[in-house]
Amino acid sequence: MSGARREQHPVFDSRVPAINKMWTVEEALERGRSALSARAGTDARREAAFLLAGVLGVAPGQLTLQRGRQLAEHERDEYLNRLARRARGEPLQYIEGRAAFRDLFLRVDRSVLIPRPETEQLVEAVLGWCRGKHGLSGLDLGTGSGAIAISLAREGPFERVVGVDISAQALNVARYNAEQAGVGAAVDLRLGSLFAALSAAERFQVVVSNPPYVANGEAESLPEEVRDWEPAVALYAGPSGFEVIRQIVDGAPQYLAPGGLLALEVAPGIADATLERLRAQGAYSEPRLIRDLAGQRRIVLAER
Ligand SMILES: C[S@@+](CC[C@H](N)C(=O)[O-])C[C@H]1O[C@@H](n2cnc3c(N)ncnc32)[C@H](O)[C@@H]1O
Repeated sequence: MSGARREQHPVFDSRVPAINKMWTVEEALERGRSALSARAGTDARREAAFLLAGVLGVAPGQLTLQRGRQLAEHERDEYLNRLARRARGEPLQYIEGRAAFRDLFLRVDRSVLIPRPETEQLVEAVLGWCRGKHGLSGLDLGTGSGAIAISLAREGPFERVVGVDISAQALNVARYNAEQAGVGAAVDLRLGSLFAALSAAERFQVVVSNPPYVANGEAESLPEEVRDWEPAVALYAGPSGFEVIRQIVDGAPQYLAPGGLLALEVAPGIADATLERLRAQGAYSEPRLIRDLAGQRRIVLAER
């Protein structure tokens, strides 16, 4: 980065005293905190530490032991670049190119949703149902980064898990993640819309999905970080938000083995509609609702 361009860089804030060309870790953290304070408030220093640690290839906690270390020019320029992206609102996980999910780090980019803690809980609920069973086959509809399919294949008694997504780019990310996680052979990734990616004779003991469930008209109510950065195809289901869930509830009985589990992550606002649809469908046992860690009605389970 040239001197002139660096001076125009959005992370150069005139309120921060001029610092030497070579930055120490401590100076870099202070510059980062200042650059991010408008967006991240009291989290600014923590976010700056997260970004700097990513550039230096260390854990954020290790930075305190390296306060006096000088950054090489390429490290400082990469850090500036990441600070600028964050200052524009890009989620940390896209900047870092990875997201934590259960005991894994998964590659993420803007073609996939950043996996959420609620979805870790969905996986936990499925694994709880699987306890004592073996040789299962699973289907993950809308696999995105592969978070659910990969976790089930690694942690559960699954012989294979089919992951379906309508986005070819997302499937590339999922494929990379499955291979990195050592379950490339057990996770079968397919391009298509929901059940269209399956043959009519396929049967699964578990069908799981964290589908798009935001109504098209609700975009404005989403946090900016979600609305402006995460893929629309992962978020919006249609005019009511219920469209994809309805298709899954109606379509799953054909592909579920008798006694098999349908597990869905839903928006709290459509949890009731999901329960009603499951009851009305007639093919399922009485559905069960699980609240997420924030107390929201989030996970719905029903057996065929
Ligand atoms: C909310 S994201 C969930 C991603 C991932 N399973 C997770 O939990 O992090 C929904 C995913 O469904 C995919 N999707 C949307 N409509 C679909 C459809 N009709 N058929 C298959 N996948 C679809 C999107 O591309 C996106 O990856």
